[in-house]
Amino acid sequence: MSKTATLTVDGNSYELPIIEGSENELAINISKLRGASGLITIDPGFKNTGSTRSGITFLNGEEGILRYRGYSIEDLAEKSSFLEVAYLLIYGALPTQAEFSSFQEQITHHTLVHEDIKKILDGFPSEAHPMGVMSSLVTAQTAFYPESLDPNRSWDAVNLSIIRILAKMPTFAAWAYKNEIGHPVNYPDNRLNYTENFLKMMFALPAAEYEVDPIVADALDKLLILHADHEQNCSTATVRVVGSSQASLYASLSAGINALWGPLHGGANQAVIEMLEMIKADGGNIEKYIAKAKDKDDPFRLMGFGHRVYKNFDPRARIIKKAADDVLGKLGVDDPVLEIAKKIEEVALEDEYFVQRSLYPNVDFYSGIIYRAMGIPTEMFTVMFALGRLPGWIAQWKEMRENGEPIGRPRQVYTGSTLRDYVDINNR
Ligand code: CMC
Repeated sequence: MSKTATLTVDGNSYELPIIEGSENELAINISKLRGASGLITIDPGFKNTGSTRSGITFLNGEEGILRYRGYSIEDLAEKSSFLEVAYLLIYGALPTQAEFSSFQEQITHHTLVHEDIKKILDGFPSEAHPMGVMSSLVTAQTAFYPESLDPNRSWDAVNLSIIRILAKMPTFAAWAYKNEIGHPVNYPDNRLNYTENFLKMMFALPAAEYEVDPIVADALDKLLILHADHEQNCSTATVRVVGSSQASLYASLSAGINALWGPLHGGANQAVIEMLEMIKADGGNIEKYIAKAKDKDDPFRLMGFGHRVYKNFDPRARIIKKAADDVLGKLGVDDPVLEIAKKIEEVALEDEYFVQRSLYPNVDFYSGIIYRAMGIPTEMFTVMFALGRLPGWIAQWKEMRENGEPIGRPRQVYTGSTLRDYVDINNR
């Protein structure tokens, strides 16, 4: 028999169905509550609100579990490739060799972007943050492919939009960087795989040989896998809500990029390095900054610490911490901020304040250190996160459309003035 919950308000009882997920998660379905009772529920920041039923990513924050389509993040990070994970997230199953070859071939075929993209890039001052450039270039795809605006397109047409954006995103990212530093852009090299091609477009200089370092390419691939999806986080929820109005895939993804940009979400990786640099420049006084983070009158937070859903440990952070040691060792990079990061982690994990609030290092505490060792500049870190999260956003957008989900439109509890008379401007 299916479970129900009973809500009693002012002596009236309402029976609410309980939905059960495949990992035995329970949720009270309140979708008909307002019709029956006039009541709504309120939950700022949606901390305890499920917005959808999803078959893409399973996350258990208490036990530190993260799985894409049932496969553990540990397995995927060790054995898979980013492009294979992208296929898994978007199409729901690991590809056969033939499916993967065809997918890879289609992506390779679409890496080139329209030459007029350069004119758009030219319009940006070099100080432009690359996340702003990225979101603009992704929205600009609607101008180059106006048929993508039609919400009633065939599945094949939607799939072509998906392939196009997966293929072009590394080109946009590398070009945003080249524009920032005033260098000529590099065109995609279709002999290389997804990650290698991106690295070459980022770092190759005119009239100079460029060899992709396999250690760097492997590490980047792993980082992209770790960021590929994370169920209903701020940017993904944004993509789904924007897409629920039947806005195009490109417009929805662009909104996701903007949501990711903030320092409390994807912008944290940039903020972590800036914080570690600041602590280093200030003499490496870790205790001082731990005290600042604990002081409620001080806006300073320990960036890279805490997570909305992980309350024990972030499984991605474990993989990344190990990778940081490994990559820096292999590349022979001795970065003093890695030592500061490790010390902060050590001190915070023993500190009452952090323990009581279940604040642990998150995925971005160490990712910036690896990006830096690869030569990726700080302001590009969040772009790297966006590159990784792209297949997750696409998969979630596609699922939302396939489920025929209604337009996202929350309610509110109004706390403003009650009705009052208009007063003429001369009498105020
Ligand atoms: N440093 C100091 N105190 C903190 C921190 C921190 N990094 N994070 C949370 N707290 C405190 C917070 O002040 C509050 O204390 P109190 O209960 O005394 O008021 C308590 O812990 C709960 O915090 P919250 O802000 O209510 O928790 P949240 O679930 O709304 O926020 C968070 C989660 C990630 C926004 C937050 O922990 C944070 O700001 N962390 C730093 C930014 C960061 O690293 N973000 C990246 C997240 S991982 C990448 C991603 O998936 O986006």
